[in-house]
Amino acid sequence: MQPSEIRDALLAPQADALFAEARTLRDSVFGREVFQRGVVEFTNHCRKNCHYCGLRNANTALQRFRLDADAILQAARTAVELGMGTVVLQSGEEETIAIRPIGYLIGQIKQMGAISITLSLGDHDEDAYRYWHDCGADRYLLKMETFNPELHARLRPGQSVRERLNRVEMLCRIGYETGSGIITGLPGMTTDILAEDLRLLSGLPLDMIAVGPFIPHPQTPLKEAAPGLMEESLRATALLRLMNPAANIPATSALDALSAHGREQGLNAGANVVMPSVTPEPVRAGYNIYPGKNAAPEPVRLIVGRLQQRLRDAGYEPSSSRGESPVRKTGC
Ligand code: 5AD
Ligand code: SF4
Repeated sequence: MQPSEIRDALLAPQADALFAEARTLRDSVFGREVFQRGVVEFTNHCRKNCHYCGLRNANTALQRFRLDADAILQAARTAVELGMGTVVLQSGEEETIAIRPIGYLIGQIKQMGAISITLSLGDHDEDAYRYWHDCGADRYLLKMETFNPELHARLRPGQSVRERLNRVEMLCRIGYETGSGIITGLPGMTTDILAEDLRLLSGLPLDMIAVGPFIPHPQTPLKEAAPGLMEESLRATALLRLMNPAANIPATSALDALSAHGREQGLNAGANVVMPSVTPEPVRAGYNIYPGKNAAPEPVRLIVGRLQQRLRDAGYEPSSSRGESPVRKTGC
């Protein structure tokens, strides 16, 4: 799609036809199966200071946690028992990343069944990325957040679009199924910037693409900013589906933070993946990236069971398959 077409679709008075077209395309590639990825958030320590994120280093009000190997493996086992075909290991960026222990976890989790492993651990050296891939990690998620150089530099102190992009391309070259994504409605993000972000994302060799709305966190510099709009994030999801028919696109949990049936709306806009947290109850609330994230003080099995029922009620089938993108994007 041309940038002007993307912009027009974001601004059009009505989006029903856009959502219907995205849904039809999603159905033709994936049917009504929704891939489930269980996310183990094993530490909320982070060395970075992204302005939008509750885990930022400067947030001294946050109680920090780090799960030990046994707790991480137990959470992964729970995910597999709950029918997830993928386990995602996610964390803030530790000051010194435990490269070998993470490799050990990857090996152990791979033995739990026919499951894929996704890593979402932020910026690290090529050696670490290669090592984890050799250990059996299948996928890596590294979000661009925005491709706009000024906005990126302002909201992600000390970081640049170029550097982040280099890493995304490096992950792809190493052989990971690579994922990236953006946040919609970031303070300072215009419709033109969003349209350009959607175009650039779609030009990358990505197997997974995520988009979710900005939600202001009270312990960040953006606490007074307005949240992203649900509608805009849904339109962005639909446009990504139209431009990337075979990509795995999650209905992000940030949608649920804005609306009770946010994830169903994401699916109805063309998404085909859900990524529930399977982080154990005593610490899960500490993975507080934005208000509402991991907020329910309930056991994981109950929360995931309820999500699976919601999917069925909305006419979808929670799938336990590994959920690879049916067409690998080439060109990295
Ligand atoms: N609102 C929405 N999404 C956010 N993220 C971080 N902070 C926020 C926020 N305030 C997303 C980013 C990041 C991931 C950890 O969560 O996309 O990659
Ligand atoms: Fe750390 Fe990621 Fe949050 Fe940035 S977005 S502060 S890198 S956890």
